[in-house]
Amino acid sequence: MYRSTYCGNVSRQHLNDQVTLCGWVDRRRDHGGVIFIDLRDREGIIQVVFDPDAGDFFALADRVRSEYVLKITGKVRARSEDTVNPAMQSGDVEVYGTGLEILNAALTPPFQLDEHISVGEDVRLKYRYMDLRRPHMQSSLKLRSVVSNSIRNYLSGNGFLDVETPIMTRATPEGARDYLIPSRTYPGQFFAMPQSPQLFKQMLMVAGCDRYYQIAKCFRDEDLRADRQPEFTQIDIEASFVSETDVMSMAEQMVVEVFARHLQVELGVFHQITYAEALQKYGSDKPDLRIPLELVEIKDLLMDVDFKVFAGPANDPDCRVSALKVTGGAEISRKRIDEYSQFVSIYGAKGLAWIKVNASEEGIAGLQSPIIKFLGDAVTLKIMQRLDAKNGDIVFFGADKAQIVSEALGALRCRIGADLNLYTCDWAPVWVVDFPMFERLDNGDLTSLHHPFTAPSCTIAELQENPSLALSRAYDMVLNGYELGGGSIRIHDQAMQAAVFEVLGIDENEQRDKFGFLLDALQYGAPPHGGIALGLDRLMMLMLGSDSIRDVIAFPKTQSAACLLTEAPSAVASSQLRDLNIRVRNAEGQ
Ligand code: AMO
Ligand code: AMP
Repeated sequence: MYRSTYCGNVSRQHLNDQVTLCGWVDRRRDHGGVIFIDLRDREGIIQVVFDPDAGDFFALADRVRSEYVLKITGKVRARSEDTVNPAMQSGDVEVYGTGLEILNAALTPPFQLDEHISVGEDVRLKYRYMDLRRPHMQSSLKLRSVVSNSIRNYLSGNGFLDVETPIMTRATPEGARDYLIPSRTYPGQFFAMPQSPQLFKQMLMVAGCDRYYQIAKCFRDEDLRADRQPEFTQIDIEASFVSETDVMSMAEQMVVEVFARHLQVELGVFHQITYAEALQKYGSDKPDLRIPLELVEIKDLLMDVDFKVFAGPANDPDCRVSALKVTGGAEISRKRIDEYSQFVSIYGAKGLAWIKVNASEEGIAGLQSPIIKFLGDAVTLKIMQRLDAKNGDIVFFGADKAQIVSEALGALRCRIGADLNLYTCDWAPVWVVDFPMFERLDNGDLTSLHHPFTAPSCTIAELQENPSLALSRAYDMVLNGYELGGGSIRIHDQAMQAAVFEVLGIDENEQRDKFGFLLDALQYGAPPHGGIALGLDRLMMLMLGSDSIRDVIAFPKTQSAACLLTEAPSAVASSQLRDLNIRVRNAEGQ
């Protein structure tokens, strides 16, 4: 071992000790005859001082530049009162350098590590090994490592077996596009990379494994967002002979322990909310419950008004007319309201009506709004009464297809919560339960809200009778408006599985073709079972207070699913393609 201690661990405990340190030059300063080198390693930074008494080493110290790799020996001494640096972990001590070896030189860095903000993310991703040297990134990697270690300990302590499942497999049913791997030995055929280990973990239950977990890589070729990567990691869990309460309380306990141990945060008991209530009150199935704003239905008050924009949706069963009251929001400027109108248009909203309450004691005269003239005084006052709107409040309105209103006002709720800093707490975990089994696609077909192996909470007959009303035994864990994880009790009965496929319009051929092996397995003594998968990257993103999942993955891909560091994906040699029996079409599709 080259070093005796990490730079970041040098403290008053080492006073007068001789230490050997290895690391990178964070900064070198020449203070008229004295050279200061801030040496950085994984654990932190220490100031090293060389003066002319160090002889040749002093001359060598003069030659070092940013990011050179050094081995330094020296004696730990206290800093004088006026030079103590409270911003540094080791800021009250320094090392008086007596030996120096340059282990490696470095080119001028593509960006100064402390100026990472000013360079584009593209540069940081291209030189990711430099970006990762930043103390913030180092601590992210470290927290991720200790959190996954805790999770492993928790799960193995509870009898879960860590079983690896294949990466080269068949398409799995999570609903995104697959990443495919061409087979050389079977020309024209492809493996799919798993969107999750779902089918394998269910077969492990049939195999009698009883309790399975895996920190599993998943691959989904879908549109990327700040909280989505094409390649991501799940904490994947499955257990036999369990109910939803068992799975939920086990996953909840795991997350509670992780937060307590690593963030000293007490998450408390997670509340539960139904899918229907979440959409009704928060316009989202992943509500951010830190924000104390709720949508209120006003459809019944608007059925007879002349204002078509509201009366139309009020009389349409597929539509929703809702109001969002923001206490103290009357201070929101016209300019900001226009911005919010633009913002909700992303979700398809055609406008954003509003009413400000300036002086409620003056009745209608105390209100300010572009729509009162259309609604009429009586209806307006009724609405304001239902909302219990007070002086200083503003109310926003949405009227449209239910999904548009939910998404638009749901997103506005979160945006205003952030803009006005309305958060009532730091952490708001919640379980969302009672999801519908199916949702309707634009073409009228039904599709699984989770995946087709999720058990319904009704009988086969009820399912067939009215599939769109059927609820599932699925549950999502939501934290601060992010879906942290989701799972369900599975179908273990072949007849129920067939009924679900029938509702989904997946005929027997397609069933056999896609999931024949699972359907077979279900007939060889499948135990009742269920599970959950939590997104490890999202968990880390939340724990680290970051708003991008890329910050918590060592080597992430860009928004367009490329790796700038390795320049993947890339073209391959034509001989490789020939081996795989693949001919690439040109850009015109020929
Ligand atoms: P689901 O598809 O809900 O369920 O995924 C579970 C969790 O994985 C995380 N996640 C992602 N994280 C980053 N980037 C992505 N592209 C991405 N997609 C999903 C989320 C999500 O909550 N097999 C089922 C689980 C089960 O039923 O047990 C499944 O994969 O945090
Ligand atoms: P208009 O009559 O279209 O000028 O709209 C009058 C007010 O209603 C404006 O403040 C619009 O932003 C708002 N508005 C229009 N359509 C909708 C809608 N679908 N939902 C909510 N507000 C709307």
